[in-house]
Amino acid sequence: MIQLAQQSEKPLLAALRGRTQATPPVWFMRQAGRYLQEYRALRAKAASFIDFCYDPAAAAEVTLQPIRRFGFDAAILFSDILVIPDALGQSVSFETGEGPRLDPIDAPEALARLKPAVDLERLAPVFETIDRVKGALPARTAFIGFCGAPWTLASYMIAGQGVHEQTPARLFAYRHREAFARLIDLLVDSSVAYLLRQFDAGVDVVQIFDSWAGSLPPSEFESWVVSPLRRIVAGVKAARPGAPVIVFVRGAGTHLAAVAARVGADGYGLDTAADPRWARKVVGAGTALQGNLDPLALLAGGEALDREVAAALRAFAGGPHIFNLGHGVPQQTPIAHVERVLEILRGK
Ligand code: CP3
Repeated sequence: MIQLAQQSEKPLLAALRGRTQATPPVWFMRQAGRYLQEYRALRAKAASFIDFCYDPAAAAEVTLQPIRRFGFDAAILFSDILVIPDALGQSVSFETGEGPRLDPIDAPEALARLKPAVDLERLAPVFETIDRVKGALPARTAFIGFCGAPWTLASYMIAGQGVHEQTPARLFAYRHREAFARLIDLLVDSSVAYLLRQFDAGVDVVQIFDSWAGSLPPSEFESWVVSPLRRIVAGVKAARPGAPVIVFVRGAGTHLAAVAARVGADGYGLDTAADPRWARKVVGAGTALQGNLDPLALLAGGEALDREVAAALRAFAGGPHIFNLGHGVPQQTPIAHVERVLEILRGK
């Protein structure tokens, strides 16, 4: 049965409370980014990507750009998951066209270089960005904060960059299990503190990105994905009962069952490969599912895009759904393709 959201309630938050809506709320991962010329124009003025993330005026402006242009149902804070390693003392830089670079944690002894706790003062510009954005959003637009999940963060911290299959972190976890567990624990505690400060600053909901969960074997999934996520969600909800949390475990596959049973989030993001009908059976009727249009269908446009949007709407029908992509907006995406998705969803 389709329930109508109360008029005052933000549609994205209604979905996270378990309401099925005739028109699902919609936002896109990486909705602020290089496919927008107004983003590229502002980004070109910044000395580096990390400076850009720590400039509250610029970060607030690019957070709002996709809201002004498309009227998405949620704004996502413009920042990056790698500000947490940065605030733990592992400085982060971004090489143009090559992605992030960090001083790798290549041995257990290197963990001593990290601070014992996250330096939230270093992240003051992020909280100021949140403060600026919250007053500028339309009343129905939800505001999403975020962090990276411990496993995904650890994979960058150990390799010092994004690498295929997360080999250095997986080897480190086998060779130095106790030290790796300590790093994960530090990241759990840092994430809880960071997300709570984001709520204090004014976000409505947070999403935790476990982008690289798909490279772990089943035997390691509980230790490095499920348990850390469960502890973060529990930590956030202990301090702020009812605070909504979305968990995006990319590459979870059939592990979504364990994630949904144990993590305790209000919504689960599905990646492009996930089957929404199967996922609905696994998460139950009252939990929101988010996803999972193929980003390449968005890039391709035309009939393929129309068909895939319609297929996604059918596949998620009958349960609380937040329309999104299975991963981020591709850089070459034409604006008209994003507009087309919204036109199909909203019927105007
Ligand atoms: O619009 C949004 O979604 C909010 C902003 C956001 C960014 N990164 C901006 C960004 C969010 C939520 C992230 C999360 C993030 N960052 C993840 C998890 C989500 C995912 O995509 O799986 C990861 C793994 C990172 C780490 C990261 N940041 C990488 C690997 C890169 C380089 C890749 C690239 O596209 O160049 C970044 C840089 C980055 N983060 C950009 C943006 C818009 C591009 C940098 C630029 O503009 O020069």
